[in-house]
Amino acid sequence: MFSFFSGRKTLSDAFSFLKTDIHSHLIPGIDDGSQDIENTIQYMLELNKLGYKKFITTPHVKAGIYPNTPQIIHQGLKKVQEALQSRNISISIEAAAEYLLDEDFEKILQNKEILSFGEKKYVLIEISFIAPPPNLNEIIFILKTQGYMPIMAHPERYGYWWSHLNKIAHLSDTGCLLQLNLLSLTGYYGKEVRQVAIKLLEADLINFVGTDLHHERHLASLAQLAKDSKIMKLLKQKTFLNETL
Ligand SMILES: [Fe+2]
Repeated sequence: MFSFFSGRKTLSDAFSFLKTDIHSHLIPGIDDGSQDIENTIQYMLELNKLGYKKFITTPHVKAGIYPNTPQIIHQGLKKVQEALQSRNISISIEAAAEYLLDEDFEKILQNKEILSFGEKKYVLIEISFIAPPPNLNEIIFILKTQGYMPIMAHPERYGYWWSHLNKIAHLSDTGCLLQLNLLSLTGYYGKEVRQVAIKLLEADLINFVGTDLHHERHLASLAQLAKDSKIMKLLKQKTFLNETL
């Protein structure tokens, strides 16, 4: 099997201090992440070599594009777990979802069909890259009232907040946890995202980090990050909730 990391001992276990990845697209064929089970297994093995012990994978739930239900997600998870077992690979994988806050999300919320993870009932949410939803604060409030702990995925990637980092701080103040993409620190999504990501980290606003892994190119960039001693040092100075899961 192809490996990005063979023969490079220094890279292995780079992210073991995090233990658990809480954001990825590893269930084959149900979103824009892994498209088949062989890829899923390969990605998990490579991430395991980087130090990850456990995965809470989060397929997209988007109205009209990826209308994934808890049933679809759990069926897919079962396939991944069975494939791991048949190959005697003991890496743990659970599933939740990455919910886009759109018109369907309000229905999902009303019908109490939300997939959360961890004892604290974390719910991973994302918003449009064009504009934030006008009712963002209200949705966060409702989620919290229902006993969930919302986590905003990759706040550093929303261009409309780059000059308004106070809005991200406000989100944190209202009780929404924040999850940074590790790839944002490599410049994978551009220079601005990288700068904002470092600022948010330095301001201690980040509660979780995630790979948001979709495909092989993401793996290659994570391996690059593992070699960036300055960024790795910054990450290790911080405490993330990943290790509690
Ligand atoms: Fe994602």
